[in-house]
Amino acid sequence: MPAPVIRLGLIGHGTVGSAFATALRQRADAIERSLGVRLHLARVAVRQPAKHRTRLHGVVVTDDALQIADEPSLDIIVEASGALGASHWLQRGLDRGATVVTANKFAVAAEPALLTALADGEPRLQIEAAVAAAVPIVRALRESLAGEEILSIRGVLNGTTTCVLSHVERGATFADGLALAQQHGYAEENADLDLSGADAAAKLALLCTLAWRRPVSLRDVRSGGITSAIESHVREAARIGQRVRLVASAHIDQTVHAAVRPTALEASDPLATASDALNVVELRTALAGPLVWSGGGAGGTRTASALLGDVIAAARALAGTRTTRVAA
Ligand SMILES: NC(=O)c1ccc[n+]([C@@H]2O[C@H](COP(=O)([O-])OP(=O)(O)OC[C@H]3O[C@@H](n4cnc5c(N)ncnc54)[C@H](OP(=O)(O)O)[C@@H]3O)[C@@H](O)[C@H]2O)c1
Repeated sequence: MPAPVIRLGLIGHGTVGSAFATALRQRADAIERSLGVRLHLARVAVRQPAKHRTRLHGVVVTDDALQIADEPSLDIIVEASGALGASHWLQRGLDRGATVVTANKFAVAAEPALLTALADGEPRLQIEAAVAAAVPIVRALRESLAGEEILSIRGVLNGTTTCVLSHVERGATFADGLALAQQHGYAEENADLDLSGADAAAKLALLCTLAWRRPVSLRDVRSGGITSAIESHVREAARIGQRVRLVASAHIDQTVHAAVRPTALEASDPLATASDALNVVELRTALAGPLVWSGGGAGGTRTASALLGDVIAAARALAGTRTTRVAA
């Protein structure tokens, strides 16, 4: 008897979306063996379908993302577009009962209803890929540390600025470091979102929302970024053994205090190990003490890993309810 099928819609097939589609194709048999359900990518939305059809054989490709969000036969919507309308698509998917999985920090961090859902622990909203890509910090906060009191958060969360700063440290120019980050696909379509600190601020807002179970929006984070004027500071810091990184930090008293700013770190600081696209997150907790995670925080495959993990978690939750639907 064929395995029950869980149908996926994907919005975005660029650096992240195409890496996700490839990983899903490669892992589908192994996932079916372990979960007992088949994950089937049924539809993809992009801006220019003609560019993508040859790589998406057997998949319906459209330019209408809202239609994917609304399509009742799709159980899970994976959003990897970075588009302005993404919050609306995610909300529409949730409203009709689908699970939504997103890599898009801005879509959640700037949308009060989605932040509230996240703070309330809505299991159909999955955002592992939106913060530090492959580093499993979202699931750690949601599940492993659910009984903890989180005292503070610090992180180096933006691959583009870390790539720029670590290359400047080694003698490259700011412009060359940025070109490299763009070449690797770490940079946002609009790199100003990385350089201004907005990208790290959105990720920090999501971590604060998860840690303190109250909506903390992008607007609640004070953010500062980097420009080419930082080159001499980075080299001077390197000369005395320090590393400049764009550090996101937050703590709570009556309110949440959250900020992103370039900071000179001692070499012994765990955050100073962040280089290129490596992200580092440090939590101080009441029971477990300090905890540190580090790993690939940007790039197609790193982010696809997190999306796939969220999709499998969603599929596992759906699997018990699915017995008869079979792939077309
Ligand atoms: N790149 C990374 O390292 C990374 C890491 C973590 C999270 N993210 C997040 O992942 C998301 C995607 O990033 P990316 O680097 O993959 O971007 P990208 O390479 O620019 O790809 C964006 C994709 O979305 C499609 N798209 C854009 N607007 C659309 C719309 N209105 N309707 C339908 N499709 C639309 C594009 O279609 P066309 O191809 O037809 O233009 C493209 O396929 C962003 O939210 C980003 O913040 C990225």
